[in-house]
Amino acid sequence: MLTMSTEEPKVSGAIGVSSAVPVGGPFEMSDHTGATVTEELLKDRYTLIYFGYTFCPDVCPTELQDMAVALDLAGQAGEKVTPVFVTVDPERDGQEQIAAYVEAFHPRMIGLRGDEGQTSRIAKAYRVFYQPVNRDDEYYLMDHSNFIYLMGPDGKNVAIFNGEVAPDVMAQGIREAVGG
Ligand code: NI
Repeated sequence: MLTMSTEEPKVSGAIGVSSAVPVGGPFEMSDHTGATVTEELLKDRYTLIYFGYTFCPDVCPTELQDMAVALDLAGQAGEKVTPVFVTVDPERDGQEQIAAYVEAFHPRMIGLRGDEGQTSRIAKAYRVFYQPVNRDDEYYLMDHSNFIYLMGPDGKNVAIFNGEVAPDVMAQGIREAVGG
């Protein structure tokens, strides 16, 4: 889990996170086109990463929409940021499901999917919690943390936004972090 500190957030809207707790790291996943990708995907560009699942009834769609709106509001800075969706429900989220999902939110959004072990490893790297609720139910929900991670071109975390951050505040944070 994320360890919150009393450090002042560096950009608008970001939550303070202890620098002693690194976020991110190596991973191997499949993208929404079926290509195998690693953490190299994040290099040399800013990314805005969110973990969720396509069957999520409300929170995930709201936050992915907020991310897309924030990138638009951030203007030139937003154009430098690639939005990324990572499923925590690979059992139901197949490649085609994810491809249709990311396209609905943003034309540049990348969807990532892994098997159980790959999903567990990337979630651990990003301190993401996820767990099915009433797994026996065909229409089970997933409990999951709802942070939005802004990663820098060096693959390191720049800022973490709480999922409830307003899009205009996130946009301001993105402008401050990315510049332009
Ligand atoms: Ni969700």
